[in-house]
Amino acid sequence: MDRLLVQGGNKLKGIVRISGAKNAVLPIIAAAILGTKKSALLEVPNLDDVQTICKVLECLGVKIDNTIPHTLKIDSSNIIGFEAPYELVTAMRASFLVMGALLARVGRAKISQPGGCAIGSRPIDIHLKGFEALGAKIEQGHGYIEASAPHGLVGTTIYMDFPSVGATENLIMAASMAKGTTIIENCAEEPEIVDLANYVNMMGGKVRGAGTPTIRIDGVKELTGGEHTVIPDRIEAGTFLVAGAIGQGDIVVENVLCEHLKPLIAKLREAGALVEEGIDAVHVVGPKTLKGITVKTLPYPGFPTDMQAQMMVLMCIAKGQSEVTETVFENRFMHVDELVRMGANIRTSGRTAMIDGVKKLYGCQVKATDLRAGAAMVLAGLVADGTTEITDIYHIDRGYENIVQKFRQLGANIERVR
Ligand code: EPZ
Repeated sequence: MDRLLVQGGNKLKGIVRISGAKNAVLPIIAAAILGTKKSALLEVPNLDDVQTICKVLECLGVKIDNTIPHTLKIDSSNIIGFEAPYELVTAMRASFLVMGALLARVGRAKISQPGGCAIGSRPIDIHLKGFEALGAKIEQGHGYIEASAPHGLVGTTIYMDFPSVGATENLIMAASMAKGTTIIENCAEEPEIVDLANYVNMMGGKVRGAGTPTIRIDGVKELTGGEHTVIPDRIEAGTFLVAGAIGQGDIVVENVLCEHLKPLIAKLREAGALVEEGIDAVHVVGPKTLKGITVKTLPYPGFPTDMQAQMMVLMCIAKGQSEVTETVFENRFMHVDELVRMGANIRTSGRTAMIDGVKKLYGCQVKATDLRAGAAMVLAGLVADGTTEITDIYHIDRGYENIVQKFRQLGANIERVR
């Protein structure tokens, strides 16, 4: 198994270019199933999760050409199946995002029940309730979920009990070719949902209000295809901004949409970092001493749960007390034990963690417990005294393209060992 070795203490300096957003491209690739014509997706990040969802589409008869780097040419003119296999769905629960598109395109879907993961049980009740509201019949059993709508889906009004990102995306895709109009209320507002809506509209869809708590979808007869450039990854960008802030770094993060980074930039400034916003870049300079802050994760436009672990590393070495409340997932403190092993002073109680800043973290062997916790371990290693060895880094490869090269070009002493 590969491991990462990080030697702490180097001050990061330089420019890093952010890749396309994992959490935008996954639903967009699923949405390609809706189209009867070819699509070309640009700025596609080279990630394990992207390869997984492409394999799911290929099982359905979709033709995908990935010979040009960061580009996917997708031909869904001929869908021959409606089943997403167990081994792919367990590898990545986001495979469940194909259900809405399959229901809309072929009126049937059979997906292995997505498992939970380290950060929570990850139920799909909001997805299924929405599909039923649109007229689909749902059957569950033997580890599979089958949805069918032989006479097509019918538009309706759906109120979401929680603004679930995946459920909002699945329901946009399902409703895109339903008879009549669908209104989704209390839905998620993440930028990745806006990117998906832009792609569906480019294919001939009528999705209005993405990025607000209410989305209106007028069903259309057919969706075609076309070219779409995926938005930059705000979580990868945030990860590098924290990296610059915690080690008295001085880095420029390029290819970003500053609008998507507002909650993070506000918190970095509160902690004492100097942050300057450009047109499509952000410059961060880390101070000698960071101040403790309070962070509460919330659905967008609140502070993103996917940046919670990374921000906790900053809090571990800030002066004074910090507090984190994780309101989105029920078990997203797996990184706390690993940080405590490195000398952090953290106490958790339910969904809240109290952090007393310490002078130093000490390098040791730690593991990546999930994707963003793995990124947090890299950040901790960058500022720790000595060498940090990170295992289970397959989590990191799911969501960060070339993370070692990107950190090395900023001057970090980091290497991947077999
Ligand atoms: C997406 O997951 C992201 N993944 C996650 O990023 C991100 O953390 C999450 O949104 C929240 O922003 C992708 O986009 C591929 P949710 P998703 O449905 O859609 C509960 C990363 O690191 N819920 O908004 O699965 C659920 O249990 C990953 O890139 C239900 O109760 O998130 C959770 O507590 C991690 N019933 C909360 O909602 C449902 O039917 C948020 O889940 C669905 C969700």
